[in-house]
Amino acid sequence: MGVLLPIILAFLAAGIGGLYLLGVFRQRRPGEPPLDKGVIPWLGHVLEFRRDTLKFLERMQQKHGDIFTVQLGGFYITFLQDPLSFGAFVKESREKLDFNKFAQHLVQRVFRYVAIENDHSILQMSSNKHLKGDGLEVMTQAMMSNLQNLMLHDIDLDTDKRSWIEDGLFMFSYNIVFRAGYLSLFGNVSRNTVGSDEKAKEKDRAESEALFYEFRKYDQLFPNLAYGILSPRERKEAEKLLKSFWETLSVSKMKTKDNISRWVWDMQQAREEVGMKESMMNRYMFLLLWASQGNTGPSSFWLLLFLMKHREAMKAVKEEVDKVLKESGQQLQRGGPLVNLTREMLMKTPILDSAIEETLRLTAAPLLTRAVVQNMTFKMANGREYFIRKGDRMALFPYSAVHIDPEIHPDPQLFKYDRFLNPDGSKKTAFYKAGNKVKYYTMPWGAGVSMCPGRFFATNELKQFAFLMLVYFEFELKNPEEKIPEIDFKRWGFGSMQPQRDVQFRYRLRY
Ligand code: HEM
Repeated sequence: MGVLLPIILAFLAAGIGGLYLLGVFRQRRPGEPPLDKGVIPWLGHVLEFRRDTLKFLERMQQKHGDIFTVQLGGFYITFLQDPLSFGAFVKESREKLDFNKFAQHLVQRVFRYVAIENDHSILQMSSNKHLKGDGLEVMTQAMMSNLQNLMLHDIDLDTDKRSWIEDGLFMFSYNIVFRAGYLSLFGNVSRNTVGSDEKAKEKDRAESEALFYEFRKYDQLFPNLAYGILSPRERKEAEKLLKSFWETLSVSKMKTKDNISRWVWDMQQAREEVGMKESMMNRYMFLLLWASQGNTGPSSFWLLLFLMKHREAMKAVKEEVDKVLKESGQQLQRGGPLVNLTREMLMKTPILDSAIEETLRLTAAPLLTRAVVQNMTFKMANGREYFIRKGDRMALFPYSAVHIDPEIHPDPQLFKYDRFLNPDGSKKTAFYKAGNKVKYYTMPWGAGVSMCPGRFFATNELKQFAFLMLVYFEFELKNPEEKIPEIDFKRWGFGSMQPQRDVQFRYRLRY
């Protein structure tokens, strides 16, 4: 017994320690939000959360109200579902709610990139300089010429008989917008290396096409990759894809390109200056590709689909686009010059702006997460205070809390192209809940420190793609009665949502 007792005690201690780590003993303390650990130790609710985040959070909100803590795969996450209290979350100091800590952990796991001290400030600085304001002027020009190269290259503008071309709308939109965005940010094949502009354009088309198909494979693995639940075969595939992206987007290859955007260039230079290894910079390049190209393509699909499914929306947007083109003094003719779509023209489209905002309301669903780095008290808009524990996380899922709240957006499941327009045609920004003005009435770009730094460029990309589609082509669903496909629930929380299936459409030159 003398020998056995310490062994038994050691096992007992290990067992209790294990249960502690599994979260079995955690209890709600006075002043904390309702706690729901789920029935499976450690995993908690993660399976239901993964299966359909929206449904799960709606269920939790009905059960517990607008703030609650749930256990998900070893983490305790407090969800805040009251949009009037979002400001307190977004503006909380970094000493309490920290984005970087959470983000660095994620990018290391998913992209193998080890962040440096001032990563985030370099990103913010470069984005402020080159992806908004005057910087957008250059990006708009680049995007326009790349879009036209991809959209028009196999259409003979002089002799084409206006025959219909059929395609899957999702793959068509994602393909074009991904490739044009990639070429605009990461540069074009240099004409000096291939001999002529035409050959350089052809190479741009071929290389960006190959990259898109590799990207889609990674894109499809991404939700399970982010949750760390890939099968061994999928893990191997993700590994292989990562290596090929690092090679394709390598800094040494990039330096042979023309028209590299200042956004990418400045961030690369800043890393070079602090002596980052080239192999690590290559990983960052893929991270940038991922962040910049994973959302805009799917969003452009939903935009065109909603326009095709809503005749009055299509009519209003088309009229606006035609008017802006006419006012710019341009007219499309067989054999005539291509459209010169300027940033100034893109600033005169309030109806298209509203249609885009409505599209994002219905189909962009990010999850905003922060690490709780010290014990804190969270104050809600109605004055209630909650104690939140260090080591937990706090999160917002604006899709359920705001985007589809019928009080803020009546008939939330309907696409209303003019939802974000005032009767006088100006942008509508006044939305209410319980008589209070809601500041965060849509949040497709997140908010606060992690707010998408590419949002102005992204909106421009969507507008340019839609604008060019509308002026060059007429397009319609192959089956006009076809229902709008369901959202792929596996991707809740990952930004722009994707459909469960593609939709066939056809297009032909308009003139
Ligand atoms: C419809 C298109 C887009 C949507 C809906 C979107 C949405 C978002 C959201 C919600 C976040 C924040 C995620 C979080 O809080 O964790 C984010 C981050 C980011 N986005 Fe976008 N985005 C889009 C397009 C773009 C484009 C075109 C670029 C660049 C050219 C871009 C660059 C980034 C970067 C670099 C981050 C990381 C920011 C950080 O670490 O602080 N995005 N995006």
